[in-house]
Amino acid sequence: MKALLLLHTLLLVSFAELSTLTVDDELVILDGNLSAGNSEDNCVVNDPSFGIKEEEVVEEQEPPPVSGHFNPFQKESLMDYPFEERLVLRPLPRNFLLASFQFNITSDELSIDKGASHFNSYAHNTVFPRSISPILEHTNTRQLHLRFTHGLWDAESWGQLPHNGSKSGGTGVEIWAVLESDSKQAAFAQWISLANSLSGLFCTSINFIGSDKTSYPVFSFQPSGENSLPLFNENSKLYLVRAALANEPICTENLTPFLKLLPTKGKSGVASLLDGHKVFDSHWHSLSIDIETRCDDTSCKYHMEEFVEMVVHVPNALDRAEKPIPKPVEEHELRCDESKPHDVFECFPLPESTDREFELSKLFGRYILGTNLVSRSPSRVCAEVGPNWSALVKVGNTYFSTDDNCFEIKGDELHDLYLQTSDTAQVASSEDVPIYVSRSLTGYGQDGGGLRTVFKNPSNETVSLVYFESLPWFMRLYLSSLKIESEDGLQLDDVITNTFYLPAIDRQRPTHLEYNLKVPPNSTFALSYQFDKALLKYAEYPPDANHGFDIESAVVTVLSPLKYEMRTATLLLSLSTPDFSMPYNVIILTSTIMGLAFGTIFNLMVKKLVTVEEADKSNGSVGSRIIFKFRERIKAIFKKKVPLFDESKKNQ
Ligand SMILES: *[C@@H]1O[C@H](CO)[C@@H](O)[C@H](O)[C@H]1NC(C)=O
Ligand SMILES: *[C@@H]1O[C@H](CO)[C@@H](O)[C@H](O)[C@H]1NC(C)=O
Ligand SMILES: *[C@@H]1O[C@H](CO)[C@@H](O)[C@H](O)[C@H]1NC(C)=O
Ligand SMILES: *[C@@H]1O[C@H](CO)[C@@H](O)[C@H](O)[C@H]1NC(C)=O
Ligand SMILES: *[C@@H]1O[C@H](CO)[C@@H](O)[C@H](O)[C@H]1NC(C)=O
Ligand SMILES: *[C@@H]1O[C@H](CO)[C@@H](O)[C@H](O)[C@H]1NC(C)=O
Repeated sequence: MKALLLLHTLLLVSFAELSTLTVDDELVILDGNLSAGNSEDNCVVNDPSFGIKEEEVVEEQEPPPVSGHFNPFQKESLMDYPFEERLVLRPLPRNFLLASFQFNITSDELSIDKGASHFNSYAHNTVFPRSISPILEHTNTRQLHLRFTHGLWDAESWGQLPHNGSKSGGTGVEIWAVLESDSKQAAFAQWISLANSLSGLFCTSINFIGSDKTSYPVFSFQPSGENSLPLFNENSKLYLVRAALANEPICTENLTPFLKLLPTKGKSGVASLLDGHKVFDSHWHSLSIDIETRCDDTSCKYHMEEFVEMVVHVPNALDRAEKPIPKPVEEHELRCDESKPHDVFECFPLPESTDREFELSKLFGRYILGTNLVSRSPSRVCAEVGPNWSALVKVGNTYFSTDDNCFEIKGDELHDLYLQTSDTAQVASSEDVPIYVSRSLTGYGQDGGGLRTVFKNPSNETVSLVYFESLPWFMRLYLSSLKIESEDGLQLDDVITNTFYLPAIDRQRPTHLEYNLKVPPNSTFALSYQFDKALLKYAEYPPDANHGFDIESAVVTVLSPLKYEMRTATLLLSLSTPDFSMPYNVIILTSTIMGLAFGTIFNLMVKKLVTVEEADKSNGSVGSRIIFKFRERIKAIFKKKVPLFDESKKNQ
């Protein structure tokens, strides 16, 4: 027996060893020509061009000699659709890298005059996503803006957000739209229909948007461009509607629908780099979609801009690609501070090395699979690097460089980008943000609290901005408690030039606050006000009631000296929460008592204490005996007689 057990254990151990070995073998990436988690491996391995080493770098100046390649898809007549794509890479201070994927899609001409022939007309979608246009038509949407953002943008060291902040939302999901409608009620119905449709399309909880989350911005979110706001019906008006879901989780299932909207479906062009794991492992990421209806004198078209942007920490991302399972750094790779005591056991690490060279394929785990095949202009990759960086594109065996570090991807070969620098601190300079705004909750009671927003203008120019805030109805705001704290002796009238305030209605409407502010140069002040916390109904609490309630970010739109948009962080408000374990406890206790009572009574009714001898005397099978006894017992109770057990046995 013991021997058997031993054998078994041995077998188990050896099996475990075997399996760990295979796991390691699979995960360690030995060659540069294979990348982790790449579904396109088949395409990569067969390509002979990727066995080359760094030493083979060939620097050739313009013109990029790839233009002569034969590409069956480049025939103008076949594939010439209004689709543009671009990848912009910008190194940020402290070894971060901003990767910005941009896609432009324009639809065919819209048939505006929808009469009876509408249902007979056939819809022809070329590159414009087929799933979107029916939604827009059904809900009469003229502009649609969607933002999925997560992470922290470190404005103090990274500078301004990309695209002047106009393409990134607050943490979570943000959506706003311009709808054409007869009345506000109709517009709201269209809005809810739009939200429900988009919720299914993008796998998010946008369908949870109701009237209690919807606001109608007055000064902020003003649509840009005159000709992008056509009225198709003279009698109707345009409504700007907005809602946000704070802290809504954003994950890979949200990226897939984004890629499916592209004509390339992420299978070619720069979108082939996008891999959910890499995007959502980043420090900050933002997915956005803007759709506008653009009209000229005769016709209208939908114009869609899609952005996928992320900030990755380059050393971490490379480490993770090389060693998916973290392992301690080998001794010879340790960088110890030689001025301090160091030996085998002791090492004060030096700061990160400023030398860095990497390839995009290492960072994203994929290659650019050729150009996008459908576009009228080729895919472009641009590296906005500082003077001490070199950026080379790798096509086949060869590396090429250009003057402006922008490369056009032609042909269907695999492309890669190689970036190298001796000083990672030398990055292309980014503009400072015009203003810093941070918001926090104050107070500690269960019944009330305060909201405090600090504005800091470090520049030497007056900044004028619009501050937009939409607060849930269960924060009952006292606008009369609005106060300003300032060391420079600023008064409320000095900074607030205009206010829009729409108080909340319980369960129907959020508080809607908009200020026009003027922030004097080189000044800091704080605006604060108090609120009461409402009591919610039992069913209004989310399943994780003790987590608290996410309050969406405030939106700051800077109007001058430059156009810029930014969001504050979201807040977590804790409301008084009923003890949800109480009903549970009551149910448990009641059930226990009932169980005890029932058991006792049942036993009293059906059981009789007999000695072993008596039991032995009775014959027959156990089952039939028990059933018989039970029947007799019941009979006896109903006859209100003293049960005569022995008699019945005799009868048997
Ligand atoms: C990488 O490329 C080299 C040279 O072509 C080849 O010998 C090697 O097998 C490749 N590695 C893998 C894993 O494909
Ligand atoms: C997309 O279109 C806008 C103008 O509508 C333009 O500014 C932008 O450069 C375009 N993006 C790409 C990637 O071509
Ligand atoms: C940002 O704003 C500045 C000044 O208004 C403008 O010159 C610049 O083109 C804008 N950048 C983008 C990406 O919109
Ligand atoms: C590039 O780096 C070298 C030393 O590594 C330095 O002397 C030079 O000033 C740098 N160039 C620029 C433009 O910063
Ligand atoms: C602000 O400072 C910059 C230089 O830092 C200067 O060029 C500019 O004229 C100043 N503006 C004002 C309004 O003082
Ligand atoms: C800003 O104000 C502080 C004092 O409040 C002063 O020391 C500093 O020099 C000022 N900076 C500018 C650029 O005016």
